[in-house]
Formats: sequence, structure tokens, C-alpha cells
Amino acid sequence: MNIILFGPPGSGKGTQAKRLVAERGWVQLSTGDMLRAAKAAGTELGQRVAAIIDAGELVSDEIVIELIRERLPEAEAAGGAIFDGFPRTVAQAEALDALLGERDSQVDAVVELKVIDEELIQRLVKRAEEEGRPDDTEEVIRNRLKVYYDQTAPLIPYFDEQGKLKAVDGMGSMDEVAASIAAALDKK
Ligand code: C5P
Ligand code: MG
Repeated sequence: MNIILFGPPGSGKGTQAKRLVAERGWVQLSTGDMLRAAKAAGTELGQRVAAIIDAGELVSDEIVIELIRERLPEAEAAGGAIFDGFPRTVAQAEALDALLGERDSQVDAVVELKVIDEELIQRLVKRAEEEGRPDDTEEVIRNRLKVYYDQTAPLIPYFDEQGKLKAVDGMGSMDEVAASIAAALDKK
């Protein structure tokens, strides 16, 4: 199974991906986590992307596609991938379709977590207090939302045309959202 968890920053993709890992044994592939790890480790890649992440802009398609490509065998061995925060652009989605196609695989479902902006901003400001992510300041949060609506939301019709889009109410508690995701995934 290959599942994309889709939605704006703060919609709960990472939280719900971790639950799916625990419950189903799949592998979480979070390009945001990978980029933050590279930045924290000070690798050449990390140094190249640091300013982009801190501004809430998107790293090039080539970089994130390569990060995903490297991890596909591991996810395949585990029986599934949960793509969290990837793809972010139509070009990334097309590249993912091609990479999986080469492996006789495909994206099986796209779960879109729907959360209103006001709630997203509240959650991210709270996360800033708890985790201190440098891109969770109010100014960068607003830019990340703009980048989402400009560059990532156009993926919604792309997935819809493929018949893969499952919209889920992301406004409830973590348990409620997890139950809605499970229902969407297991519905035949
Ligand atoms: O997915 P997450 O919100 O954790 O990503 C954090 C940051 O990583 C994004 O704001 C962006 O700067 C960068 N990113 C990216 N391209 C992706 C995923 C994340 O540029 N596909
Ligand atoms: Mg995340």
C-alpha cells in the first residue's frame, strides 16, 4: 500500500502518519523530517536547504524526489509507504507516479486532511512553543500557508482525476481523525 497524507501545514499529517506506522507497520516518508535532519546534521544538502526551509519556501523538486527515491526500497520491504508532506508540487506527483510505476507499484490512495486556516495557525503557534521549530513563527507560517495554496493545493484536482482522493475531516481529536482515516482507507 502506498498512501499519501495530504494537507496544509498543521493539518496533522505527521501525527497521523506515525499512527499508521504503529498500527499497520508501514514506513513514514516525510521529506520535511529528512530535510530537517540534513540541516541539523550540517550535511552539504542541509546547508543548501537551510535558508529555504527557514523561510517556508519549497526546496527544488529534484532534491526531494531524490530523497524519496532513495527510501522506496525500504518502504516496499515493509509493505507500504505513507508519504507525509510529499508531493508538494504537480511535478513531484508526476515523478512519484513514474518512480512507483518503474517498480510495478502505484499510489493507492490520497487522504486529504481538511482543516480551516484559523485552526492551522493556532496549532502551529502552539507547536512552536512546544518544539521550537524555527519555521513555526507567525510570519513563516503565513508564508507556508500561501505556498501550500499556490503550489500544493493544485494537486487536489490531479489526485481527484485519478480517482484516488479521499477527503477526511481533520478538525476532530487525534483519535477521531485516525478513525476517519481508517474508514476511508478500508472502505472498498
Ligand atoms: O512537511 P513539512 O511541513 O515538515 O516541511 C517543512 C519544510 O520543508 C517546508 O516548509 C519546506 O520548506 C520543506 N519541504 C520542501 N519540499 C517538500 C517537503 C518539505 O521544500 N516536499
Ligand atoms: Mg509534518
